[in-house]
Amino acid sequence: MHRNFAQQTALVTGATAGIGRATALALAARGADIIVHGRDEQRAADTLDRVEALGATARFEPADLSDPAQVTALTERVGQVDILINNAGIFHFARTADTTPATFDAHIAINLRAPYLLVQALAPAMAERGHGAVINVSSGAADTPGLGSGIYGATKAALESLTRVWAAEYGPAGVRVNAVAAGPTRTEGTAAYGDAFRSAGRAVALQRLAEPEEIAGAIAFMASPDASYVNGATLSAMGGQPALG
Ligand SMILES: NC(=O)c1ccc[n+]([C@@H]2O[C@H](COP(=O)([O-])OP(=O)(O)OC[C@H]3O[C@@H](n4cnc5c(N)ncnc54)[C@H](OP(=O)(O)O)[C@@H]3O)[C@@H](O)[C@H]2O)c1
Repeated sequence: MHRNFAQQTALVTGATAGIGRATALALAARGADIIVHGRDEQRAADTLDRVEALGATARFEPADLSDPAQVTALTERVGQVDILINNAGIFHFARTADTTPATFDAHIAINLRAPYLLVQALAPAMAERGHGAVINVSSGAADTPGLGSGIYGATKAALESLTRVWAAEYGPAGVRVNAVAAGPTRTEGTAAYGDAFRSAGRAVALQRLAEPEEIAGAIAFMASPDASYVNGATLSAMGGQPALG
């Protein structure tokens, strides 16, 4: 495989499960050294083993992204990175009438404030070095109304908006910022939704759920030199929209 990311370091948030773990492995397979972020030590050890088995170096940096002080401490421990994958996220579905202030705040803190603080802290050093790539992991919920996905989709729509702003802020210095909007994907996080979630796979043109590796491939492409003129874009990895009728 072409080693697109040799001598580059990637911080992947939420790399202890699902799309984040698959992304860590996809970047490692292409030569990147990986900083595995998450909270769960056992899951982190599994990702570290699998990254190292690919010949890449890896280390675990835990932080609870709901706490801004921990996000800042994470950026200080991490230092310089070439690639930032803002993947960690939560999705607790409830209709507006049933959404508690705590659920609202958690979505804003983890899905929106944490990526904001990470870009704020890490992108300037990329800009100084004249290169870097940031990928924000979004969702079809950013655009498509879903009953119960109100605050979740709102955080992803905001993240896509910030993607365009950051692309304009850091692009002149050679730092690209893009998003990948994932469709329904089989992960630890979505396993809890059972049959209801499997039916989401039948609602896309490909008529199936995505595997995390399929989203990771799109993320790795957007982070790679193959996408060197792509900036401020949201790539749809959502299996396609079925035609009406
Ligand atoms: N799966 C889908 O169908 C789908 C569709 C569209 C978009 N997405 C987006 O893709 C991303 C990954 O989704 P996924 O399904 O792979 O998720 P997942 O299986 O639930 O894994 C979530 C990851 O985020 C980390 N995380 C969650 N809350 C955290 C917190 N407070 N502090 C630090 N880390 C935290 C978890 O770490 P620990 O377990 O170590 O705490 C874990 O590594 C999310 O942004 C999600 O919105 C997913």
